[in-house]
Amino acid sequence: MQRTRIDVLLSEQSVGQTVVVKGWVKSFRNNQFISINDGSCFDNIQAVLNRENYDIDFLKTITPGTALKVVGTIVASQGSGQAIEIDVTEIEIYGTANAETYPLQPKKHSKEFLREIAHLRFRTNTFGAVFRIRHAVSFAIHSFFNDRKFYYLHTPIITASDAEGAGEMFRVSTLDLAQPPKTESGDIDFKADFFERETHLTVSGQLEAELGALALGQVYTFGPTFRAENSNTSRHLAEFWMVEPEVAFADLHDNMDLAEAMLKHIISYVLEHCQRDLQFLNDEQIKEESQKPKNQRSELSLIERLQSCIADDFVRISYTEAIEILKNSKPNKKKKFNYIIEEWGADLQSEHERYLVEKHFKKPVILFDYPKDIKAFYMKVNEDNKTVRAMDILFPGIGEIIGGSQREENLDVLLARMEEMDVPAEELYWYLDIRKYGSCPHSGYGLGFERMVQFVTGMGNIRDVIPFPRTPGNAAF
Ligand code: 4AD
Ligand code: MG
Repeated sequence: MQRTRIDVLLSEQSVGQTVVVKGWVKSFRNNQFISINDGSCFDNIQAVLNRENYDIDFLKTITPGTALKVVGTIVASQGSGQAIEIDVTEIEIYGTANAETYPLQPKKHSKEFLREIAHLRFRTNTFGAVFRIRHAVSFAIHSFFNDRKFYYLHTPIITASDAEGAGEMFRVSTLDLAQPPKTESGDIDFKADFFERETHLTVSGQLEAELGALALGQVYTFGPTFRAENSNTSRHLAEFWMVEPEVAFADLHDNMDLAEAMLKHIISYVLEHCQRDLQFLNDEQIKEESQKPKNQRSELSLIERLQSCIADDFVRISYTEAIEILKNSKPNKKKKFNYIIEEWGADLQSEHERYLVEKHFKKPVILFDYPKDIKAFYMKVNEDNKTVRAMDILFPGIGEIIGGSQREENLDVLLARMEEMDVPAEELYWYLDIRKYGSCPHSGYGLGFERMVQFVTGMGNIRDVIPFPRTPGNAAF
């Protein structure tokens, strides 16, 4: 007989039917009630057995984590908490779970503890919900772009160029670390390396995506990116996924419109399709908030926060306006910020971004026209020659979720900017070529996928929204 997934079983509620269910034991009470989850949805199904029919040693093997199959009839539930349950006629155990050493006990474990046993954290209610939602976010992104006729472009993971010019890259090499070949001048001879040049893991697919956009019109990348920055924060990973659309003939305003529409689409999709998982996370977070002192509690619940994000237009202000707001803000005047904003040109820290979003505007904010000195070489220089057509989107609880810009399409201006910023033009000849052959205005942005998942799940730490987090010192599994 075919097995029935629990999500199907619960939504169809066909009392009287015989079903086969396969899953893992969540709990086993009174040698009679087995709560089973198979990952297909948040909810468990209760299987009820007649303990007289089984040997006590057999019953002892049914413990949390045991993988099993039950066959039985769907009946209306006698107990409260579920509408239907399975009256069991047959049980088969696939794998027991060593009750003495099984690390998931039926009590609440900290998220830090669960990170140490990554293979089992999937089995918890919280991470089951998070990873089902992560899937939904990914699917919503693909459907958003597909509906708008964007092409999904796979850009390389190994690259010879530093797209962001920040130099925080992981080296890719097959050279012998202990005895690398040397040139006559004593430097490492990368000509002898696998690709006959220095290569790294990419920090962004943007530069390649620009080439795609200037032929296919509108493309997006969605792949892993790598940054060797040593930041141990709740918003940074060394390996994370980025979504990067790139659009020909689009200016900065088109870019902001696209980004806002995409973010709202993702949030609406999750609100509509992940109700049960979201409700659980929402309720858990209300419990957690109630433990905090009153003045530190967030005003909105998770679901309210998501709803409020799609209800209104995002705020759009220039960097210059933002600096004025920050300069005159209470925490700046009272020197409560770690970095005091003194003058125009200052780089914004996450404390400033979060002040603007969470305290001042209380909604998502798009900041644009940043000083050119704090932004990447490829951004289009404005007529004032001081600012570039950059935009960052700031979200409550997250800070920067998107970074993007209109690109500099003028070859001479771009070359001058690269020289100013010490970006080697020879290595990027292929990128400069599109400014020579049919250049046109174009724009794009990058969405930090995990930051998006953090926002829609309300998880405080970015490590808890990726199955196998990579951070400084962590790559064991
Ligand atoms: O602002 P970033 O550095 O922009 C770019 O890489 C551009 N090439 C994007 C483009 O225009 N196509 O990164 C984009 C986003 C950030 O806004 C942030 O959400 C996320 O990527 N991000 C990180 N997420 C997790 N861990 C990190 N270490 C991250 N660094 C950036
Ligand atoms: Mg950025």
